[in-house]
Amino acid sequence: MVAFITGASSGIGAEFARRFAEKGYDLIITGRRKEYLNRVAEEIQTASGRTVTTIIGDLSDPKHLTDLVDRVRNSKDIDVLINNAGHGLKQHFIQDDISNPDILLDVHLRAAMHLMHAVIPGMTERKRGTIINVSSIAGFSPTASDPTYGATKAFLTFFTESLHLVLHEKGITVQALCPGFTWTNFHEKLGIPKAEQSHRGILRWTTADKVVDESMKGLQNGTVVVIPGFLNRIAMKIVALVPRRLYYRMLKGKTLRRR
Ligand SMILES: NC(=O)c1ccc[n+]([C@@H]2O[C@H](COP(=O)([O-])OP(=O)(O)OC[C@H]3O[C@@H](n4cnc5c(N)ncnc54)[C@H](OP(=O)(O)O)[C@@H]3O)[C@@H](O)[C@H]2O)c1
Repeated sequence: MVAFITGASSGIGAEFARRFAEKGYDLIITGRRKEYLNRVAEEIQTASGRTVTTIIGDLSDPKHLTDLVDRVRNSKDIDVLINNAGHGLKQHFIQDDISNPDILLDVHLRAAMHLMHAVIPGMTERKRGTIINVSSIAGFSPTASDPTYGATKAFLTFFTESLHLVLHEKGITVQALCPGFTWTNFHEKLGIPKAEQSHRGILRWTTADKVVDESMKGLQNGTVVVIPGFLNRIAMKIVALVPRRLYYRMLKGKTLRRR
């Protein structure tokens, strides 16, 4: 049994790696930061005794993605695929160089789709498998701060639900995990200091540990779209009910402070 996890050098991906190793899976984990990824691998190998294979590379690099896809397609024992790798953008779409949103599409969507496409035939043959796509609550409602990030996550959630409709009959469990604000390396990479990573209104911050807890519970009870945190679930329900004109007025000028 092997779990293949993209973006496991920190945060939610590293936590998923720990959990699946505890459950007896060997791991293949990926990321760009060699030192971070190796540290996670060593920690897990020592704690669980499982085999952890690390693959360093950038998912927006077509050659790296092709290598990963070949590896997944040729493997006979990948029972779990977690498309977790992701990042935000420092600048708003209208000010940014177009190459940056392009890279985000490659990492959040192209890489996830190619890896799913490669893993599904084997899972179908074995009549078992689990695919978790780490999406976000940002995919449920437009924001003034970043049109690209939320739109990619909306795509990923929609895509995951649509796949569920077909794959659940083949014994494959599919989940879109939609966390809210989570303390990981994500926001620091955007230049948002730890001191500013605190609760905002109804939207609370949480830990990667709690996010993965809720994902695991979701796998057990068959929840396809998992939104960790009671208040996040309420907030998303409210957002869905607010008339769009009012919503636009509420969000006007609300941008996340960046450095
Ligand atoms: N933190 C939040 O508030 C939050 C909320 C909702 C959803 N999410 C989603 O949760 C997922 C995990 O993020 P996190 O919060 O755990 O942040 P994180 O600690 O920064 O982890 C992100 C992971 O993705 C990898 N990654 C990013 N860009 C990559 C690229 N171009 N190629 C290969 N790997 C790449 C990073 O590895 P390297 O840096 O080593 O490449 C890292 O392992 C992301 O999809 C994110 O969108 C996060």
